[in-house]
Amino acid sequence: MIRDFQEINLASRNSFQVVQHASRLIEFETEEELMALFRRERFDRWMVLSGGNNILFTRDYDGVLLCPVAQEIELLGEEQGRVRVRVGAGREWDELVAWAVEHGLWGLENLSLIPGKAGAAPVQNIGAYGAEAKDVIRRVRFYDVAEDRMRSLGVEECGFGYRESIFKQALKGRVVITEIEIELSREANPRLGYGDVEREVERLGGATLRNIREAICAIRRSKLPDTAVLGNAGSFFKNPIVSHEVAEGMLTRYPEMPHYATADPAKVKLAAGWLIDRAGLKGYREGAVGVHEKQALVLVNYGGATGGEVIALARKVQAEVKKQFGVEIDTEVNIW
Ligand code: EPU
Repeated sequence: MIRDFQEINLASRNSFQVVQHASRLIEFETEEELMALFRRERFDRWMVLSGGNNILFTRDYDGVLLCPVAQEIELLGEEQGRVRVRVGAGREWDELVAWAVEHGLWGLENLSLIPGKAGAAPVQNIGAYGAEAKDVIRRVRFYDVAEDRMRSLGVEECGFGYRESIFKQALKGRVVITEIEIELSREANPRLGYGDVEREVERLGGATLRNIREAICAIRRSKLPDTAVLGNAGSFFKNPIVSHEVAEGMLTRYPEMPHYATADPAKVKLAAGWLIDRAGLKGYREGAVGVHEKQALVLVNYGGATGGEVIALARKVQAEVKKQFGVEIDTEVNIW
């Protein structure tokens, strides 16, 4: 079913809760509806607005926002304990994780409680606690607007990297993702190696699927602000990846600095949250915006902030980190 809104206030449709308007917003359910829309009307300007969890509006949107609302979770088949599942782009990601855990299927539990919809997961290859969407995604199906046809890409073709995919690069602005296909496992595969996860899982009584989900939810709730209460878009910045030499130089000055190996042995990932924290900005507040007091990677709207105020704070944070450590941190959130 199509729902078509004109001059719509986006405050309840972006997790930063900033007040901006869109000329038009269309919710669609099926691929047929989506294709018919593009064939019937020429959209001069359009973009996908999914859960609105990774976007900061700094001005009104004078075009058409397309919102997928398809909800299905369909079992496609099972072979040797590997279970294939098709998921509509509009399904809340965490509902999918909860469904998998209820059905005894492994693979999504470390990605519990990430806000957003299933169709957005491949775009930035969402990740947390040692897992990434690319570990479970097998295929992504989308409408290619330029070619006016449905297409799909297998996981190897999606260009997945740390918070990266082809959907942010070559296919940016030309496709609308309609569903993802994932593969889960009946066989237990606990991933507890990251941060406090193991300790929390032990406290709950051991590495069952349910305990891991519960542990991840508890850790996230303790550090990350609930978007229903405090406007935010999760990590505002990406963790920077620097050369081995740069990391070594920093480690001689800050031996306690968290750092992580990457797939490329010449590169090291640093923790932007630690850099911002160490720069003295954790909990820093400027009017209605601030750096979250429990996780410095997150910028928050204390109420009534504009996108411009958030951006001004982000620029200040970037400049301060650059000044103190010589490291550039890029934004993870999309800015309009
Ligand atoms: N740290 C600080 N101070 C802070 C924040 C972090 O010292 O204010 C230190 C921590 O103590 C730790 C290190 O920095 O040693 C890394 O922190 P954390 O484990 O909290 O993870 P992160 O690197 O800050 C990333 C993801 C999160 C994800 C967590 C857990 C990015 C940009 N962010 O954060 O994802 O939940 O790992 O895996 O990669 C998101 O993308 O929106 C998001 C929340």
